[in-house]
Amino acid sequence: MSKPSNGRVALVTGASRGIGRALALGLAAEGFDLVVNDIARQSADLDAVAGEIRDLGRKAFPLLADVSRKDEVVRMAGEALAQAGQVDAVVNNAGILISKPVDDLEESEWDAVLDVNAKGTFLVIQALLPHMKARRYGRIVNIASIGGKHGAPNQAHYSASKAAVMGFTRVLAQEVGPFGITANCICPGIIVTEMGRTNLADQANVDRWVAITALRRLGQPEDVAGPVCFLASDASAFVTGQSLNVCGGINLS
Ligand SMILES: NC(=O)c1ccc[n+]([C@@H]2O[C@H](COP(=O)([O-])OP(=O)(O)OC[C@H]3O[C@@H](n4cnc5c(N)ncnc54)[C@H](O)[C@@H]3O)[C@@H](O)[C@H]2O)c1
Repeated sequence: MSKPSNGRVALVTGASRGIGRALALGLAAEGFDLVVNDIARQSADLDAVAGEIRDLGRKAFPLLADVSRKDEVVRMAGEALAQAGQVDAVVNNAGILISKPVDDLEESEWDAVLDVNAKGTFLVIQALLPHMKARRYGRIVNIASIGGKHGAPNQAHYSASKAAVMGFTRVLAQEVGPFGITANCICPGIIVTEMGRTNLADQANVDRWVAITALRRLGQPEDVAGPVCFLASDASAFVTGQSLNVCGGINLS
């Protein structure tokens, strides 16, 4: 059962599928109207998510943009404010994973992962900060990963990108705190999505991950929604600069 409107608007990047879709629907169920973003080739899926949000009784504004491109991000931010009127919460969820050992990694592959995961987060925040500062309110939730704290073989560049997101967020929290804006990270564990399947190639891999997870199961996209809704809400007003593991107890710190 969805809650009535809370008068707030959240923007979720990479929202056409996987964790981003679950976050958008979770926020809509909590009463947020939504600006949902993804890249052009995901347009049909993004429109479908917008339809699901409207079915929950909330407004949905689908906007296509590649978060690694400054010109596209600036345009998206302008369209978001023009169409939705305000943005109260920003959830930087768009991300990519290219699985390769350091020896074989192309420079272009390093750049692609860092550009989407780390630079994309920075560009979206920078484009919306003047608006949030002017309103002296904002909730920023950046989706990092437990891979940015520890990581696994073949994901050194991905781990570097997510560690960058956490470092960026810790300093951002200090810069924007005086304006009533909080900035936090969520660090998912192994979540069953298109990307998550990279870590779940065969049953032996699945069994290994489940065995080291305290809750003895893989995560579902919906498992990430509750913690993100909390950090996007007024209930988290005194929480900032934190990186919260949502991993079923793989990381225990
Ligand atoms: N699935 C996991 O196990 C897991 C674990 C830890 C962290 N994460 C993080 O969670 C986030 C969501 O991952 P997911 O598992 O849902 O993956 P996914 O591949 O299913 O979804 C990622 C979404 O981001 C979009 N996207 C990619 N590049 C983009 C760009 N340049 N601009 C805008 N959108 C773009 C994709 O089109 C896709 O819709 C990512 O940041 C990922 O790194 C996932």
